[in-house]
Amino acid sequence: MPNQVHLIAFLFGAAAVVTEPAVAATVLVTGANRGIGLEYVKQYAAKGYDVIATARKPSEATELNALAAANAKIKVEALEVTDLAAVDALAAKYKGTAIDVLVNNAGTTGFPEKQRFGSIDYASFDDVMRTNVRGPLKITEAFIDHVAASPTKKVVVVTSSEGSISDVKTNRQPFYRASKSAVNMTMKNVAYGVKDKGVVIVLINPGPVDTDMMKAARGRMPLRTTELAVRELIAVTDKATIETTGTFWNFDGTVYPW
Ligand SMILES: NC(=O)c1ccc[n+]([C@@H]2O[C@H](COP(=O)([O-])OP(=O)(O)OC[C@H]3O[C@@H](n4cnc5c(N)ncnc54)[C@H](OP(=O)(O)O)[C@@H]3O)[C@@H](O)[C@H]2O)c1
Repeated sequence: MPNQVHLIAFLFGAAAVVTEPAVAATVLVTGANRGIGLEYVKQYAAKGYDVIATARKPSEATELNALAAANAKIKVEALEVTDLAAVDALAAKYKGTAIDVLVNNAGTTGFPEKQRFGSIDYASFDDVMRTNVRGPLKITEAFIDHVAASPTKKVVVVTSSEGSISDVKTNRQPFYRASKSAVNMTMKNVAYGVKDKGVVIVLINPGPVDTDMMKAARGRMPLRTTELAVRELIAVTDKATIETTGTFWNFDGTVYPW
């Protein structure tokens, strides 16, 4: 989090207090064109961060493009998180840029009808795993030097309570659940792999949030706003330290059971 300093500006002989970020800080958010990712862009931009906002189809990212048009600190970049070469190319493009917070947000549940035992669509299984597990792993690997070069050094994975094996009492979206368990396991390992660089891995469950991903649940369960959820996700991220690296957090800052 950039510290805030108050600069005294003398305008026309009168003193005015201007608030500006004291430290230039950068965040990269994947899947930034809608839902939780778009809200991350809004909130980090409001804090004065430089924001690298990735979307797989920037030409269709109307709301994100409007934010970027109004704020030169927001850069929109194309990124399909399953495309290994594209991830490497983006990391090369930003070589030398320190990234304080790398937010692995992009994710998919896959189609429920493709996850029914007895008629499983294995191509769909692979797609969910490529996006939700391989994506954050590859992005973290490609950008680790950018993150390690920053003062903050945090990698966030927007995971899910659906990845908690101890929570499972029904057969529901097994691809998605498996992918979130797997990304937790993968990134907990990475946490130990990068600890000597001082990089903190933060796994967070955002809880049920009112986005396209949860549109089928609208009216059937309470959904929290993206505004509230992202405020909580950022608060948990801010509190995470190298001592807590690899922890699976709930949005309220408590530890979530594996
Ligand atoms: N909403 C919830 O209640 C909830 C709960 C627990 C966890 N989460 C997690 O929170 C994260 C964000 O979810 P959300 O609710 O904001 O979902 P969402 O509204 O469906 O948005 C998903 C975002 O991920 C992007 N994405 C999906 N596959 C991608 C790929 N292969 N490459 C690049 N981008 C890709 C989408 O891009 P396109 O627009 O191009 O499809 C979109 O920007 C996900 O990881 C999700 O699992 C959400």
